[in-house]
Amino acid sequence: MPLVPMTAFTEDVKKHKYAVGQFNLNNLEFTQAITEAAMEEKSPVIFGVSEGALKYMGIDYTVAIARVAAERAGVPVALHLDHGSNFDMVMKCIRAGFSSVMFDGSHHSFEDNLRLTKQVVEAAHAVGVSVEGELGTIGGVEDDLSVDEEDATLANPEEAIRFWEETKVDYVAIAVGTAHGMYKGVPKIRYDIIEKVASNIGAPIVLHGGSGVPDEAIIESIRLGVGKINVNTESQVACTETVRKVLAAKPNEIDPRKYLGPARDAIKEVVKGKMRLFGSSNRA
Ligand code: 13P
Repeated sequence: MPLVPMTAFTEDVKKHKYAVGQFNLNNLEFTQAITEAAMEEKSPVIFGVSEGALKYMGIDYTVAIARVAAERAGVPVALHLDHGSNFDMVMKCIRAGFSSVMFDGSHHSFEDNLRLTKQVVEAAHAVGVSVEGELGTIGGVEDDLSVDEEDATLANPEEAIRFWEETKVDYVAIAVGTAHGMYKGVPKIRYDIIEKVASNIGAPIVLHGGSGVPDEAIIESIRLGVGKINVNTESQVACTETVRKVLAAKPNEIDPRKYLGPARDAIKEVVKGKMRLFGSSNRA
């Protein structure tokens, strides 16, 4: 099936109270692992691609492997730019074949974020591409994007509601206490912010920094209106730990398939577990 925009998921997500997982692509093995997980779980899925991953894989390779994966999958797949930093990058991805984009204007003032996000929405919606916007600043490190914990700011619910009303983004990422990367302690999620925003807007909420968030917190967030959850670090950890284990057991191994194959299986298991937890299994 061809790549779909994230709006293809919205109605079902709201009706049946679950979240679609965004799993980030880092290379071919990640793409295959996530696709196989979605097929086995009969789950819709979002391929997230950060600007760093795009630089690493190349935009043409990225779109080509995502298209092949979506054709094979038989379940709906969206190809989504993660944390797009400017209008040009968003346009480049749309032209290359992305079915969805995130414009992250959270580092600008609220008024500038509104203005810039509106421009992106206008252009993307004209060609059937869905848009995610961000309010508040999510802490932690993702590729070249690093936000100190002290600089991370929670979303202001009134602003988030106005942001959706004026931009009409399809999904709204709000900073509610999660962070990119693994947590040192247990993340303190501001459920009150999720609830207030979700009950006043027409779009699902996006939870970034899904790795390491306790299962109960995920379930509660979904109950309150989260409809998309991003996961990258846990898949990366599973991949790298598996490669380390294989090479420790066989230090003379030189065939990449012998360590990347098991790493791919490990990523797939992480993704399948998240799909079950998010409630997206059997919803394709
Ligand atoms: P984690 O790497 O913490 O899972 O976060 C992923 C993410 O939010 C991508 O935008």
